[in-house]
Amino acid sequence: MKTVCITGCTGQTGSYLCERLLNDYKVYGLMRKSSSFNTERINHIFNHPNLELMYGDLTDGSNITNWIAKCKPDYFFNLGALSHVKVSFDQPLYTLNADAGGVINCLEAIRLHSPNTRFLHAGTSEQFGSSSPPQSEKTEMAPQSPYGVSKLAAYWLVRNYREGYGLFACSSISFNHESKKRSPTFVTGKICRGAARIKCGLQNELVLGNLKAKRSWNHVSDIIDGMLLMINAEKPDDYVIGSNKMISVEEFAEKVFSKLGMDWKDYVKVSEKYFRPNEVPNLEPDSTKIRTELGWTPKYSLDDIINEMLDEHMRLAKQEVLLKEEKLDER
Ligand code: NAP
Ligand code: GDD
Repeated sequence: MKTVCITGCTGQTGSYLCERLLNDYKVYGLMRKSSSFNTERINHIFNHPNLELMYGDLTDGSNITNWIAKCKPDYFFNLGALSHVKVSFDQPLYTLNADAGGVINCLEAIRLHSPNTRFLHAGTSEQFGSSSPPQSEKTEMAPQSPYGVSKLAAYWLVRNYREGYGLFACSSISFNHESKKRSPTFVTGKICRGAARIKCGLQNELVLGNLKAKRSWNHVSDIIDGMLLMINAEKPDDYVIGSNKMISVEEFAEKVFSKLGMDWKDYVKVSEKYFRPNEVPNLEPDSTKIRTELGWTPKYSLDDIINEMLDEHMRLAKQEVLLKEEKLDER
């Protein structure tokens, strides 16, 4: 049976990828030690015989080296990262260490201990920063945050190791991807959760930051389809992955609230607290290359994504209401 290493397996994308591969591959997942449970997204597959989890951190080179030397995987997906753009301004050096230094740790370990491993790094549209949309592989990269800068460094490191050492190493340049497992610390999750809780009487308002920024929101399953095509391609290369047209945060909120029969303007407030020192205004993918060279065909519309996220957050909000009522009954 072929083997796969996945960093970030407790995260949104990593958890979907684990689930997708488990029946056909032996999957080794790297998870961080945390003071409370951080396996919520993979609890349903936690005891699967093909899943082996190990504690680790991308910033710990010896840990990554030992892991790769032991597993010698056929495939390696580096999905672990400090992935929150605003938080990267608060922890710039940690972000550089984890999101760029961590990639050096993976590439060096592969070069020295498992040179036949196929390596995919999760790059991001944040690398484009202030460049005008639509963005393709040829667009100038002008990142606007410690996160974007770190991911751009990682992207160049991947290219260096591919060209210098002949490793099968590639970077996906993925646009925003969402799902029912998206953390509500990101704006789509925050809006869907907030609207659902307002609908169920659990909160009165939703406080957001910059409403004017535009993003292309895609489904994580489509992005994973692209990653799998890339890592199984004849030769390693970097590809933009993303398809949906960009819309503003404001338009996203309007859609979500109206699906629940509410007007977003009655509930959404804006606070400076959620603004970033630099903003990335417009991100929209030109994914011609992956469509024509690898036959990538995305399936999810923005509406599909919002419906899935709203269903989940309505389910959670109703559950919260029931729990509250039970507590009252106990008194
Ligand atoms: P996510 O939900 O935030 O998951 C990030 C994962 O990385 C979590 O499992 C987290 O562990 C782990 N992690 C964080 N720091 C780590 C470290 N120092 N060492 C090892 N693991 C660490 O992010 P996602 O949405 O799944 O994104 C997956 C990857 O794609 C990330 O690299 C992200 O930067 C990139 N990306 C995401 C998007 C998007 O829109 N989702 C777009 C482009 C690129 P804990 O569970 O313990 O926190
Ligand atoms: N998180 C958050 N919270 N963002 C807000 C809020 C808020 O309350 N209000 C407005 N926004 C705006 C942000 O300023 C940004 O312009 C936009 O909503 C999207 O923010 P996020 O959902 O945090 O995502 P992101 O685009 O910054 O980063 C995500 O996508 C990148 C790919 O483009 C992350 O998943 C990154 O890891 C990923 O690389």
